[in-house]
Amino acid sequence: MRKPLAAGNWKMHKTLAEARALVSALRAGLEARPGISGRVDVAIFPPATLLFPIAKAVDGSPIVFGAQNAHFEAQGAFTGEVSVPMVKETGAATVLVGHSERRHVFGESADILTRKVAAVLGAGLTCVYCVGETLDEREAGRTERVVGDQLDAALGGGMDLVRVVIAYEPVWAIGTGRTATPQTAQQAHAFIRARLSEMYGQSAAAATRILYGGSVKPGNAAELMAGPDVDGVLVGGACLVADDFLAIIDAVAAG
Ligand code: 13P
Repeated sequence: MRKPLAAGNWKMHKTLAEARALVSALRAGLEARPGISGRVDVAIFPPATLLFPIAKAVDGSPIVFGAQNAHFEAQGAFTGEVSVPMVKETGAATVLVGHSERRHVFGESADILTRKVAAVLGAGLTCVYCVGETLDEREAGRTERVVGDQLDAALGGGMDLVRVVIAYEPVWAIGTGRTATPQTAQQAHAFIRARLSEMYGQSAAAATRILYGGSVKPGNAAELMAGPDVDGVLVGGACLVADDFLAIIDAVAAG
């Protein structure tokens, strides 16, 4: 069975002091919930400068941490970038690849993202690969075509699916307060699982976690989790407040 995963993408938020306070509140909240780590995995994605101190802050807790991005080359003349081996050295277990802000704000192409997924998996880390359509694409009836192409591009090369998590984040739902309905989310997740099944076989697809992201809040997490193919959430804004993220973790653990 797929163990649910509650993941928090901090984006470009939190100073060191704020990050330590948030992690310490999350730890205390998790400690106050006996057995919670058996029911849900918890991951956080802080900014790159915080990875080393976060490794210390989460030590001994069930919280796993990862990077929001990493370059596909191990080293080189790439000013401003951080490589996968550098991320791995912090103790990070996972890397987000293909977040819509990377695709649409920073213009990362399918080719770049394919190389990033390969670099992350090649280094033995877990990859949370994000997919999702824009509002125009949804309204033009192209959701499955777009998401299917995003899956084919990055995962078509015969990857080790065991270390891949998919995050379905419709672009129109990110940071907008406009969440996909549970039915819309489930429909997209079922499509993704069917596509993974075509690519990797039914049992590999059945074992792969597919997260929903886009304006997930304490008030809507439980209904989103009701979809049989929704295996967790990737949270932006609401993961920055410990009580909100803990309430979402509870909903994911119950789902
Ligand atoms: P919000 O939860 O703020 O909409 O962000 C979602 C997201 O992009 C998580 O990666």
